[in-house]
Amino acid sequence: MSPLTLNTPPKPEKLLFLKKFIRHGKRVASFAPSSRSLAKAMCLGVTPYKPQVIIELGAGTGAVTSEVARYMHPESHLLAIEIDPTFARHLQHAVPQARVVVADVSTLPQVLMSCGLSRFDLLLNGLPTPSLPKSVNRVVLETFAKLSPGGTFSQLTIMPWVYKPTYVRLFEKVRFHLVIKNAPPGGVYHCQQLRPDWEHHVPGTD
Ligand SMILES: C[S@@+](CC[C@H](N)C(=O)[O-])C[C@H]1O[C@@H](n2cnc3c(N)ncnc32)[C@H](O)[C@@H]1O
Repeated sequence: MSPLTLNTPPKPEKLLFLKKFIRHGKRVASFAPSSRSLAKAMCLGVTPYKPQVIIELGAGTGAVTSEVARYMHPESHLLAIEIDPTFARHLQHAVPQARVVVADVSTLPQVLMSCGLSRFDLLLNGLPTPSLPKSVNRVVLETFAKLSPGGTFSQLTIMPWVYKPTYVRLFEKVRFHLVIKNAPPGGVYHCQQLRPDWEHHVPGTD
């Protein structure tokens, strides 16, 4: 089985992802959308038993978004933010339950305000956090601190364990969920409670 056939979305999405990866490698950060197993691992905090406000960053073609929509309570609010308009079009078509916004996450507070959201329960982060500027990651973490004090921050990765120290410096509680069934193998850091000194440990490039 070739690495590309491991992941589940239909072929046009895989091809689109590959093309975008060739053109914007650092921003897309993966040559294929997340597998269903990795997408499911991102859904640990999603519950069908009560409405939640769920924010997804770097939603791509909707691999994670569609799993979230499958599990969540019918009255949950799912906002998916993606910088690439072509990805966003696929995403909105594939997951009509989600509200899709084409935006750079550096404008996250403004996006949430324009959507009328003053709090959220879960932040599902599909962004290539280590290769984003620190200033962008700071906006994301600040927004999480202000609008989701008791919430969960779930970070997708395709480099298992490598960034665990990064998240342990930021959060009081960090659990890593390894996912072998993805090309390449990856996982999710499920994090809670930002540490008081988190601002000194913001990841990213200068
Ligand atoms: C590793 S891919 C993850 C895609 C999808 N969540 C998945 O699991 O298949 C990272 C995504 O983040 C998006 N992205 C990168 N920088 C961004 C930014 N500054 N604002 C919003 N989206 C961004 C990319 O376009 C890409 O779709």
